[in-house]
Formats: sequence, structure tokens, C-alpha cells
Amino acid sequence: MKLIITSNATAWVVHYIHRFLHTHPGTVNLCFPTGGTVLDVYAQLARLFGQGQLATEQIALFQMDEYVALPPTDPQSYRFYLQQYLVQPLHITRTHFLDANAADLSAVCTRYETTICESGGLDLVLGGVGENGHIAFNEPGTPFSARTHVVNLTDSTRRANARFFDADSTRVPTQALTIGPATILEARNLLFVATGPKKAAALAKLAKPGSTPLCPLSALKLHPNAILVADPQAARLVPPTTSQLEISYE
Ligand code: GLP
Repeated sequence: MKLIITSNATAWVVHYIHRFLHTHPGTVNLCFPTGGTVLDVYAQLARLFGQGQLATEQIALFQMDEYVALPPTDPQSYRFYLQQYLVQPLHITRTHFLDANAADLSAVCTRYETTICESGGLDLVLGGVGENGHIAFNEPGTPFSARTHVVNLTDSTRRANARFFDADSTRVPTQALTIGPATILEARNLLFVATGPKKAAALAKLAKPGSTPLCPLSALKLHPNAILVADPQAARLVPPTTSQLEISYE
């Protein structure tokens, strides 16, 4: 796994996605996240699209995760977020959302995996990093073999996400649907991004040898094409000599 440390993580990620789309002219299955970290990425992609510098017609977008029981019209639902910041501004016409209001959630999860598989697999998973090291909504302890599933959110994640719910963690849903570590590890390319001091503790765990479900982020070490882009604040506790990581400064 490569760790890129750069003071402009957003620009690095935008450049990567721009080049990725340019070099993959056929259909590309992209699994993209929500969250604060990627907001600037999406704004810059929208700007490039508006300037005619980004082709998006080949994109098939897959949602990474979703809160259970928030209606899609709720501004805090991840579907609403993706529509607002990605689908509409980039004129993406092919989308796959997780129906987290369905009666049978495990059937939704199974169908989602089938859809990914029948679509030819994910070409690129872009992801953020949770403060406790979660990726998508895979909380610490999730087996790496897990696929799309229902998850009970930890108190720490609900507290971290309370900022999107008027700072009231009791309003953060208790459950979510998420693609699993196995879904992520089967994607052809992984690009994760972490910025700011609140992510430093999660990244520090990467210095330990090997990968463990206790730190879902460490699953990236098992993938041949995984990149984590971090700003110096997020990477500040990662020793530069960490043999586990191919570190570069850009
Ligand atoms: C959330 C989402 C993740 C996201 C992460 C980081 O809980 N489920 O998909 O990547 O936490 O969010 P942020 O970028 O707001 O720090």
C-alpha cells in the first residue's frame, strides 16, 4: 500500500480521478463515499466538468454506504448527499443506491453484491477514513471477509458524525448499510483520503505490522493497488520509516 503525504490532498485526489477517467474510456464502476473530506474533491470535479474538462458519461456510480431508515429525501441521507454533490453536478446518469428503507435489508445487501458482480466489479473505490479507523461503515472488528451488510454503528462513529445532525449524536441513526471489506478488497483500485488531526490516531495504527479487523483501514495493506492520500496533520503519527508502507511526499 502506498501512503502519499501531501499538503494538498484534494488536488492530488482530483488529479488521480481526472486521469483515471481519461485512461478508462469504457464504462467505469466507481464506488464513492460521502463525508466532509471529499466535499472539496467533488466541488473541484464539478468545476472541471463545468469547464468541459471531464467526461462523465462512462461513469456508473455505486453508493458506498447509507444510514438505515433515513428517507432518501432527508438531506442527511447519503443518497441525498451523492445526488447533490456528485450525480447532479457531474450529470451522472447511471447510479446504484442502497435502499436502506426496504423491509428486508439483508436481501438489499445480497442484491447489491450481485449487481456489482454482474456489472463487472468495481474499478475504483474512493473512500474516507473514520476517526476510529473505519472504512465505509465497517467498524473495528468487522471481518475482512464481510460483504455488503447491515452494521450497528459504534457510539464513537455516531459522536463523530453528530456534526451533520446539529451536534446531537442521538439523532444519528444507529444502523447503516455498507459495502464490506471483501467488497472493497475485490475492487481493482483503492484510493482513500484522510485529512486533519482527527484522523492521526487511525493512521498511526498502520505502522503496526500486518492487517487486523480491529483497524479496518489496515485492510488496504492487503490490496495490490491501494493508495492512501493524507495531509501532514493526518499522517503526523506515522513514523517515516514504517516498512509496512511505501511512503512518498508530494
Ligand atoms: C463516515 C462515512 C465514511 C466516511 C467517513 C469519514 O462515517 N460512513 O464513508 O468516509 O465517515 O467522514 P469525514 O470525511 O466526514 O471525516
